[in-house]
Amino acid sequence: MTNTEPSVIIIGAGLAGLCTALHLAATHRVVVLAKRGLHEGATAWAQGGIVGVLGTDDSVGAHMRDTQDAGAGLVDEHAARFISERSAAAIEWLVQQGVPFTGDPTGPLGLHLTRESGHGVRRIAHAADATGKAVHEVLLERAAAHPNITLRERVMAVDLVMSHHLGRVEPPRCYGVRALDIASGRVETLAASAVVLATGGVGKVYRYTTNPDTATGDGIAMAWRAGCRVANMEFIQFHPTCLYCPSGHPQERGFLITEALRGEGARLLLPDSTTGNATDGTRFMPTHDARAELAPRDIVARAIDFEMKKHGLDHVLLDATALGESFLKAHFPTIHARCLALGIDIAREPIPVVPAAHYTCGGVVTDLVGRCDVPGLYAVGEAACTGLHGANRLASNSPLECVVLGRSCAEHVAATAPAPCPALPAWDENQVEDADEQVVISHNRDELRLLMWNYVGIVRTTRRLERALRRITLLREEIHDCYASFRVTRDLLELRNLVECAELVVCSGLMRCESRGLHSSRDFPGTLPVSFPTVLSRPARSSPRQDAQARLRNTRIE
Ligand code: FAD
Ligand code: SIN
Repeated sequence: MTNTEPSVIIIGAGLAGLCTALHLAATHRVVVLAKRGLHEGATAWAQGGIVGVLGTDDSVGAHMRDTQDAGAGLVDEHAARFISERSAAAIEWLVQQGVPFTGDPTGPLGLHLTRESGHGVRRIAHAADATGKAVHEVLLERAAAHPNITLRERVMAVDLVMSHHLGRVEPPRCYGVRALDIASGRVETLAASAVVLATGGVGKVYRYTTNPDTATGDGIAMAWRAGCRVANMEFIQFHPTCLYCPSGHPQERGFLITEALRGEGARLLLPDSTTGNATDGTRFMPTHDARAELAPRDIVARAIDFEMKKHGLDHVLLDATALGESFLKAHFPTIHARCLALGIDIAREPIPVVPAAHYTCGGVVTDLVGRCDVPGLYAVGEAACTGLHGANRLASNSPLECVVLGRSCAEHVAATAPAPCPALPAWDENQVEDADEQVVISHNRDELRLLMWNYVGIVRTTRRLERALRRITLLREEIHDCYASFRVTRDLLELRNLVECAELVVCSGLMRCESRGLHSSRDFPGTLPVSFPTVLSRPARSSPRQDAQARLRNTRIE
């Protein structure tokens, strides 16, 4: 390592970014960017836990089967095996870093394992119901103390610096990043020996979501603009049980009520249509799936959506009262306290719940060391599509993928000689001015998120997808004009990325002429006997819409 060599730049300080940084820092200087505070991101919000194949009643084969079952035929077997085989080592590494998982002296590695839907056995290590916070705090502390890691918060990656930006006629390659320093408003050009996208998912493209404000699909949009393939974007996972507050802010509607509650025995019930919050006692999941409340998430979310539409309900109820107050307080203290603050005592009354957008199963196409299509560029975590999740992610597989791929990516970067880095041109702001009306950006953002919720939700139709695409195309053009004319701000950049990702979601949905996993279409209710991931590529000057239209002409089964 020499001081003149550019650093590796990791965009994102969540679990995927920090794992990559900590493994790489043994041999490389690493700069980690976070567009908001270092603590903000989905990782810190994760409740349920992280999969570890640890129990004597468990095996890699059993975990792979559950992952494949949930993934509805589209899970990449190699990815599932690679990640599952490394799950025990991943948990051990987290324990070594100091993560305070909930213990059980009789459990493997002294850990208490819980269970969530889609899992045949208990295999989820957790820190009560705030696993993400426990993991993130420890890793962030480690990274902050490491001499080779520089953490830069409130610095937002705008775009990747590619060979064509340098006027080079050569195969595309990533040489660095343009990044907006939010405090000064200046855009810096950062040279990098490698760039790792660890930017999380795109949940914020929906009006109702469990996701934090960071989840605007920046890495996916940047990789797409750089010419990388993006796959399986139609598979947006809706979490079945988020707190429903009738008069609450949309954020309250996104507060997650972990599946682990159902794993421990909580049941889904219909409310009494006259009183709303009292149950009429009807348990509906057994009529939708033999696994009842423990069916995979897509099935439970669709069942709730069905019951809400059928009975004209605002929500259904999750009854955890049978678990008892002391168990609930010990194992679910965060949820207990948050609900109590809103006037719901979960030990005594059922919790009103609704589904909300939760996880992006698709993303930038990578291999199992995080390599994207462009040399010098990697993607890890929720921004990436390794093939592990297929058409629907199995609960608690996401942090596992972050830890395993963070390590394998770091090892690959460390073993690869960097290309010589040319001088990078500075960002040019000559032709732009300050935006006259910020309100246009917030209106467009609200419009986009509402139309995605209304037209690209849990159950879809071709007509609604096409309607969404027409509006998205108009919005994209308007936002592009703003980007070309105005000085960039975080809001504008996020909106630009959101609208691009929305287009990718809708176009992928239009290309899937069947119902599978998280993509449920009224026009194509059947599941095709053979199916493939939806891979969008960006031939020069085409848009995902043209891609989808071209494919539709060939594959639509009327
Ligand atoms: P994140 O943790 O979201 O981190 C993204 C980082 O990228 C942030 O630091 C952000 O600031 C940064 N960033 C984004 N764009 C830019 C940019 N342009 N420039 C600079 N920085 C940028 N999964 C499970 O398997 N088990 C669970 O129990 C679980 N519970 C969950 C509960 C909730 C409420 C939520 C929202 C998700 C949950 N998930 C769970 C999913 C899981 O937490 C995430 O998939 C995972 O943490 C993603 O990690 P990540 O590092 O890829 O992204
Ligand atoms: C939850 O705790 O229900 C979320 C788990 C996950 O997203 O895997």
